[in-house]
Amino acid sequence: MHAAGCQQFCLHRPLALHTGTRHTQRRAAGGCVRATAAPPRPDTEAVPNAARFTEQIIADEKKYIMQTYVRPNLVFTHGEGARMYDAAGKEYLDFAAGIAVNALGHSDARWLAALTEQAGELAHTSNLFHTAPQVRLAKRLVELSFADKVFYANTGTEANEAAIKFARKYARVHAGIDPYDASAAAPHELVSFGGSFHGRTLGALALTAKDHYKTPFAPLTPGALMVPYCDLEAAARVIQRGRTASVFVEPLQGEGGIYAASADFLAGLRRLCDDAGALLVFDEVQCGLGRTGRLWAHEHFGVRPDMMTLAKPLAGGLPIGAVLVTDAVADAMKPGDHGSTFAGNPLVCRAAEAVVDIISDPAFLEGVVARGERLREGLRAALAGNPRVKEVRGLGLICGVQLDVPAGGVCERARDAGLIVITAGKGDVVRLVPPLVVTDADVDQAVKILCEAIAAELH
Ligand SMILES: Cc1ncc(COP(=O)(O)O)c(C=O)c1O
Repeated sequence: MHAAGCQQFCLHRPLALHTGTRHTQRRAAGGCVRATAAPPRPDTEAVPNAARFTEQIIADEKKYIMQTYVRPNLVFTHGEGARMYDAAGKEYLDFAAGIAVNALGHSDARWLAALTEQAGELAHTSNLFHTAPQVRLAKRLVELSFADKVFYANTGTEANEAAIKFARKYARVHAGIDPYDASAAAPHELVSFGGSFHGRTLGALALTAKDHYKTPFAPLTPGALMVPYCDLEAAARVIQRGRTASVFVEPLQGEGGIYAASADFLAGLRRLCDDAGALLVFDEVQCGLGRTGRLWAHEHFGVRPDMMTLAKPLAGGLPIGAVLVTDAVADAMKPGDHGSTFAGNPLVCRAAEAVVDIISDPAFLEGVVARGERLREGLRAALAGNPRVKEVRGLGLICGVQLDVPAGGVCERARDAGLIVITAGKGDVVRLVPPLVVTDADVDQAVKILCEAIAAELH
């Protein structure tokens, strides 16, 4: 291993070894890995020389990684279930879950078994070849949804980017335009909504609300129009036959501040799209796959899209994106129209199969509903009468606490007290998106820590 190069501490990745259903990290002295050395560390034990190790990682991060993220001075080394541990061995209840990604929590044994087994068989082939996990996962997603076909991507933004391309090509084909006629004026406009977040690549970014994310990178993909969320009249003014290719909407906005759409709004969009011959796209990258207590967030509203984009939780922490589409959409795309080297590789798809199997169980989803209600009721009861707290809202295990001041200070205090939560909206919402496997006790502990942090910060 790296022993020769290791000094007092080293930054090499710890090796996870399997011991039945649970994995245990074994490290040689100084944090370096020797698979046969040292007895198992208890989960809460610190990395040797934790303070120096942390300092070094942070210094090297500043030196070697582009500074596009703002992070606290913590280095996480491992996690189990709803808990993560920093280098000093401090335990954190993780109610951010890697921004709504770790739906099964950290190091889930079923996910790990699927992943390691597949890694030992075949991790990647590119899309030049067939592999079974890719097909099995697609079959499962189709059986569980409105969709007829799946396209794989690697992230949420890529899934949306793919959906934009599918919508634009579909619009050309259905307008009777030769897709390869460069001079043709085809319906191409993309409609999205205030508060939305669809990603950071130039097409998805054009559909995203925050100007701050967009302006430095202008010009973005042309043809993007934005109207206020849940304003059907405004939507009706821009969704037009001959102009609109597709409408992108989150059934529940995550980054935007945990705002759910209404059944009337989504049904209205469905009608407007049908009248205009445009495609309705539900972005369920954050709110999909069990997060709201239903498998798909749009099930709360009884409206079906033509396309749905998925990503975050789908492979339990590995990068994946997916666009689920009807046959009508799929038929407009031909070999060579879109692709990706990594997307849908057998390793990621096998992990995703494990995730989908677990989350799609109705009993699991009932648990999400129950824990979500417990979370909101607990917060509402504990925060009642606090004039700085305007609302506690959400569905299932996506929950927002609306403050009338910036929420950053509350999040920092909560983190110091061992609870990881993040902000949303205009920075004035505390967002809770825990692993979907949290227990009642986890929820109660989170409520206690968060309410104490709010009381201390906003007295
Ligand atoms: C609704 C929604 N769409 C798209 C994205 C972009 O996903 P990614 O960061 O994987 O590109 C996000 C990320 O937060 C999201 O919340």
